[in-house]
Amino acid sequence: MHDMPDKKVLVQMPAGLNPNFVKLHSRFPTSAYLRARAPHNVPRFAFEYGDTGAGADVGIAHNWAAFDAIKVVPRYGAITTVPPIDVELFGTRYAAPIGIAPMGGPSLVWPGADLLMAKAAQRARIPYTLGVAGGATIEDVAKVAPDVFWLQLYRFYQNDHAIGFDLIKRATAAGVKVLALTIDVPVRTTRSRESYAGLGREFRPTPRMIYEMIIRPKWLLALLRNGYPRFATIRPYAGARASTNETIRFARENMGGVFSWEEVARYRERWKGPMLVKGILHPADAEKAVSLGIEGVWVSNHGGRQIEALAPTIDVLPAIVAAVGKKATIVLDSGIRSGQDVMRALALGANAAFAGKSFLWAVGALGDAGPGHLIDLYIDELRSSLGQIGARSLAEARLATIRHPGAIAF
Ligand SMILES: Cc1cc2nc3c(=O)[nH]c(=O)nc-3n(C[C@H](O)[C@H](O)[C@H](O)COP(=O)(O)O)c2cc1C
Repeated sequence: MHDMPDKKVLVQMPAGLNPNFVKLHSRFPTSAYLRARAPHNVPRFAFEYGDTGAGADVGIAHNWAAFDAIKVVPRYGAITTVPPIDVELFGTRYAAPIGIAPMGGPSLVWPGADLLMAKAAQRARIPYTLGVAGGATIEDVAKVAPDVFWLQLYRFYQNDHAIGFDLIKRATAAGVKVLALTIDVPVRTTRSRESYAGLGREFRPTPRMIYEMIIRPKWLLALLRNGYPRFATIRPYAGARASTNETIRFARENMGGVFSWEEVARYRERWKGPMLVKGILHPADAEKAVSLGIEGVWVSNHGGRQIEALAPTIDVLPAIVAAVGKKATIVLDSGIRSGQDVMRALALGANAAFAGKSFLWAVGALGDAGPGHLIDLYIDELRSSLGQIGARSLAEARLATIRHPGAIAF
């Protein structure tokens, strides 16, 4: 599907991309190659945690199939070069309409992964979203990714949201650019591969898991360099010396459920910067968020990790764009595996597309160099896809004729 980019395209690539791109491309020409390599370096339980969906992964399969089903009819003759892809999102200019989605526990997949992804995003000038349940603190990410730093929050509701509002204070002090409130985890669901690999509600390595770690020396080295996976941003609330399991227990007692619209309005009032609600699939919810002064709608089904039956995001996107596209910035994730997928999302009206799992595959396959290589791949593929469909700008992607069999009418 993705040929080696020709030299002319490479010469036109924006400055700052990895000089080793051609070499890495010959080993990992698409995200699928990174996914195939990652289990060789990552203990099985950790790979399963990062890669699994809910149930039997049918939701992930639906997300991927929905992108694959979208066919674009190009027009030719208008352009001779690939278009620029830099984009303004919430008042900041980024190098590409591509971002890293928030994740809890990336450093379980690869110790130190949160900061590796943040650094790569800063180098490439694309948005990086720290998950509040991630393995780096807000303050540490601010040091390495000051220009591209977005933060995601879950609902810490105890003591009238004391922790949630403290996180907003910390985010403001750290210079976070954009805040996202996740609303699509109303209940706890199960992921069978994760459970089968030995990961329960707390982190208690079984003898098999310890064996899996010992036989993965690159991962062990990352563990030695970066320490045991922790919920770094949440940990101080659980106690300065709280262990990982104490922090997990604390989070379970203090966090959960979805933000009600009244709560979204309260967070809106406290956070002075631009804000997104993440996990929206219904145009009426998008309209509700926008009516509360929320600038961004993050269309997501959590990458197929909640339940399998949720609609693919790309299939609800056109209706959401029709409802709020003129009033809000629309970010989409769940199923992005290539720059072509990003192009499909832009053609159907998204302002940017973000990816989660594929960045974990990248860091698992290539360690430090992984996230940067995946960004380069996505950028290179997006540029060639836009060029191929005759778009002279990101906006012109929307002019393409598109067959979208899965589009859901509301
Ligand atoms: C390991 C993992 C952990 C995640 N944790 C969170 C989280 O803490 N908060 C959140 O809003 N989304 C979380 N997500 C969902 C991502 O933000 C994103 O919506 C999803 O990964 C996008 O789909 P994709 O993986 O197909 O790219 C997580 C995803 C993964 C893979």
